Amino acid sequence: MSAPGLELCGIGLAHPVLNGSGTFDAIAARRAFGDELLERFPFSAFVSKTITPQPRAGNPPPRLYETPSGMINSIGLPNKGLEGFLASDLPQLAELPVPLIVSVMGTSREEFTELISGVGSRDEVDAIELNVSCPNVKSGLIVGEEPAETFGLLGELRPLTEKPLIVKLTPNTAAPEAVAKAAEEGGADAVSLINTLKATAIAPGGSEPWLGAGSGGLSGPAVRPVALDQVRRVAAAIRIPAIGMGGIETGAHAADLLAVGAAAVAVGTASFRDPAAGERVRRELEGLAQANTSSIPVAFNLDLRSN
Ligand SMILES: Cc1cc2nc3c(=O)[nH]c(=O)nc-3n(C[C@H](O)[C@H](O)[C@H](O)COP(=O)(O)O)c2cc1C
Repeated sequence: MSAPGLELCGIGLAHPVLNGSGTFDAIAARRAFGDELLERFPFSAFVSKTITPQPRAGNPPPRLYETPSGMINSIGLPNKGLEGFLASDLPQLAELPVPLIVSVMGTSREEFTELISGVGSRDEVDAIELNVSCPNVKSGLIVGEEPAETFGLLGELRPLTEKPLIVKLTPNTAAPEAVAKAAEEGGADAVSLINTLKATAIAPGGSEPWLGAGSGGLSGPAVRPVALDQVRRVAAAIRIPAIGMGGIETGAHAADLLAVGAAAVAVGTASFRDPAAGERVRRELEGLAQANTSSIPVAFNLDLRSN
C-alpha cells in the first residue's frame, strides 16, 4: 500500500476523495462486484449511511425526483438502527480497505449519546460523523441550523469519545460559517458540507407534491455553486479541516473545492450514475495536480505526487 497522501483529523488517507454519506452502498457494491471492489475501492475513507438509534423504514414513496441538473431525494434515513448496524453492517464495513467513518443522527441529545456510546467504543470505527440536519424534539430547532444547538450538542458528546467527531453541516441556514465555528468551539475535529438543500417538486400536471414526504433535499450539479460558496465561507472561518462536497462530477470540480479551502472532498450523487465516479474523480484530480494546471494548493500537488 502507498504511503498516506494526507492526514485528516489524525486519519491517514491515501488521497483526498471520500464518499458522501448515503450515496454509496459498499455492502451492496461488494455483493455486485465481489473482491474487485476491495482491490479498487473508489474512496480513501468510507462514510456509512446515517444510522439512528432505532430501525427506520424511511419515508413513503415516491422518494426521488429528477431535476434538470440534479435530484431531489426524500429517502428518510432508512436503516437497521444502532443494534442492527453493529451486528450486521459493521463487520462487513470493517473489511473495506480504508478507514471507516460512521454517520449518526439523533433527535435528542440522549439519542446522540446512545449512538456515540455504541459506535465510539468500536475499534473498527475511525471517526464519527454527526448528521445534524434534524430537529431536536425538545427545542423543535434543527440542530445544524443553530450555532447554539450545535455547540450544546458537541458539549455533551465531546467528552464521550476520543474518536474524531466530524459535523456534517446543513446548507439550509443563513450563516453556515457561524454553525461551523460553534462546532469547532464545541470540540469538533472537522466539518463536512454541504448536505442537501431543501427542495420540493409538484407531480406532473397536478398540484400535489410529488414526493411522498412532501419535500426532500436537492443534490447533484445544481448545488455545486452553493457548495463552493459555503465551503469557501466555512473554511475561511475555522481552523479545523472542512470536507467539501456538493455536485462533484469531475476532478476539476473537486479541485475547485480544494482551491477554496476544503482539506478533502466527497463524491455523492455522481456515484449513483457511475459507481466508479469516485475513482475517476481521484484520477482526474491527480492528473490536474501532476500537470500543475489547477489551483490545487501546492501541498496537495506534492502529496499526490508522492503516491
Ligand atoms: C440519495 C441520497 C441519500 C443521502 N443520504 C444521506 C445520509 O444518510 N446522511 C447524510 O449525512 N447525507 C446524506 N446525503 C447527502 C450527501 O451525503 C451529500 O451531502 C449531498 O448529496 C451533496 O453532495 P452531492 O451533490 O455530491 O450528492 C444523501 C444524498 C442523497 C442524494
